Amino acid sequence: MTNPSDIVWHDHAVNRATREQNLGQRGVVVWFTGLSGCGKSTVANELDCQLSRLGRSTMLLDGDNIRHGLCAPPDRLRTEHSEAFAARFGLGFGSMDREENIRRIGSVAALMASAGLITLTAFVSPYRKDRDHVRQIVEAAGREGDFIEVFVDTPLAICESRDPKGLYKKARAGEIKHFTGISDPYELPENPEIHLPGGEGMSAAEQASVVLRWLIARNVF
Ligand code: PPS
Repeated sequence: MTNPSDIVWHDHAVNRATREQNLGQRGVVVWFTGLSGCGKSTVANELDCQLSRLGRSTMLLDGDNIRHGLCAPPDRLRTEHSEAFAARFGLGFGSMDREENIRRIGSVAALMASAGLITLTAFVSPYRKDRDHVRQIVEAAGREGDFIEVFVDTPLAICESRDPKGLYKKARAGEIKHFTGISDPYELPENPEIHLPGGEGMSAAEQASVVLRWLIARNVF
């Protein structure tokens, strides 16, 4: 068994402050959370475009993409690894799998923020304790205020009426288990840094601009 005290942190010659100075910005994590179909990926993508047009250095981590690799489900891992490996490291949508999904992504996002990147993430992240854990990971790697929770608050009825991937229909038919909002909980953010009312009111570009203005007002760049 590995003793945690046998693993020692190394400080590198080029540190976070230097990386941030070189980029002319602060590394932060902008964490979009909300139901499937709420628009979080669309808004994060739009914000990424707006930041890129301003010459900012960013990275976008998105649920569906990350589940193609770092957090792949057992079915995907089984094609290249043993059954035992796939069962141990593959991630589905049970509460413990989501906890590990968010922990891995939180750790990667913290590394990216340490590289000075404005890191945008779009994950359902339905459990408050998992989002709070990421906040701790990110702030421990940097400073208080480096984690910016953005709640894309689109009512379930609207998400379900959009149903871009047909998943709500399948969840209602019982073909998908643990589907957030239908057969699994979504715990509302209590104190998100930014609350974006979703639905019909604002376009994705307008929602992204709200976040952009917030970042500028807090001197992220
Ligand atoms: S989580 O809860 O943060 O671990 O989920 P995430 O990694 O963001 O993955 C969400 C996307 O996976 C699809 N999908 C599901 N979502 C919720 N519940 C269940 N059971 C589920 N099964 C598959 C869905 O397309 C989500 O994508 P978005 O972009 O949110 O619609």
